[in-house]
Amino acid sequence: MSVVSVLGALTREHVVGAGLLVATVLVARVVAIVARIYLQPGASARQIASYGRAGPDDKTPVYAVITGASDGIGAAWARELARRGYRVILLARTESKLHAVAADCRAALTQQGLSDAANAAHPLAVVRPFDFSTRDDALWQALASDLAAYRIGVLINNVGVSTDMPTAFLEDKMSDLERILDVNCLAQVRMTRIIAPGMAARHAADARVRSVIVNMGSGSSESPIPLIATYGASKAFLKAWSVSTSFELAPLGIDMQLYMTFFVQSAMSKISRTSWNVPSPDTYVSYAIRRLGCGPFQTPYPAHALMHQLIYASLPTMLMGRLSHGVTAKLRESALRKQARQNKSE
Ligand SMILES: NC(=O)c1ccc[n+]([C@@H]2O[C@H](COP(=O)([O-])OP(=O)(O)OC[C@H]3O[C@@H](n4cnc5c(N)ncnc54)[C@H](OP(=O)(O)O)[C@@H]3O)[C@@H](O)[C@H]2O)c1
Repeated sequence: MSVVSVLGALTREHVVGAGLLVATVLVARVVAIVARIYLQPGASARQIASYGRAGPDDKTPVYAVITGASDGIGAAWARELARRGYRVILLARTESKLHAVAADCRAALTQQGLSDAANAAHPLAVVRPFDFSTRDDALWQALASDLAAYRIGVLINNVGVSTDMPTAFLEDKMSDLERILDVNCLAQVRMTRIIAPGMAARHAADARVRSVIVNMGSGSSESPIPLIATYGASKAFLKAWSVSTSFELAPLGIDMQLYMTFFVQSAMSKISRTSWNVPSPDTYVSYAIRRLGCGPFQTPYPAHALMHQLIYASLPTMLMGRLSHGVTAKLRESALRKQARQNKSE
């Protein structure tokens, strides 16, 4: 029996029945995705506060290190972790902005009855200016020896950079591309190599002590993203490296996680208004904190998880490439118009 004769034998009822079946399967898939995203259990407040400690009675001062902590998502991580009882070590280039975030963290910790004066060796907030694009080994070694003084239970590898605006690969400055790779890839690896051995040693000494490392992924690694290709590729590296390494670190007492993130209102995204799928950094982190220790790959903001499952994981690469090329080309045009307006007004 040929395909043509089978198709010819189909009645209207067959076609309607097949259509209903496909629609039911699709709706069931969407419902399952939505249920999985919105009903998944998160970490308890107790679990969130437990990193670096042997138990609830262990009052040893524990630090959270946050890279790129002077602004955006990193500053929000720092404030939230301080609210959860962690002393913080804040790293970025702009010292004045780091001090402002440190003041917020200190206030949150003071409210919990902790004080700087009580323990001079364990300040509530440490500001450590650092440029993550450096390849100078002496600077990295100096950072490592400064950090060795603290018991670190949480590392948020948050720092990340892109180009000022979407730009064709062949027109990008080589120095900008190197900076993206140095900050988004090498710096994450170096920070983890500096901090993870101490975390592993504390777990080896007392198996109750676990630590956590979060790496900030991006939706740009999930589909082609012409004009922002090197940034997207750097985040693809981060995702592959983080998820693979997490399996090596788990038995050493370290939960390493990649947080898949789509647009968040910040200087990097250049989005000034929040919407259903663009949270503020504080809102994003209020969801992100609840995914600590929940597995190597997380998409903590529910609207981002929906977009990831329903669009990025479902549409063909060719279509996604064309769609995102259109979006980044428009972003470039509007960035160029803004630049022209600024040049005119100067
Ligand atoms: N915003 C989004 O839509 C979005 C989406 C997906 C993923 N992400 C990821 O989330 C992370 C945070 O993004 P964000 O939007 O919060 O960025 P942001 O607002 O631009 O903040 C970036 C932070 O990194 C610091 N920084 C930049 N270059 C640095 C360098 N060379 N050395 C040290 N610190 C440096 C900045 O401080 P200084 O200038 O003071 O150094 C700032 O504290 C990044 O990894 C980003 O890729 C963001």
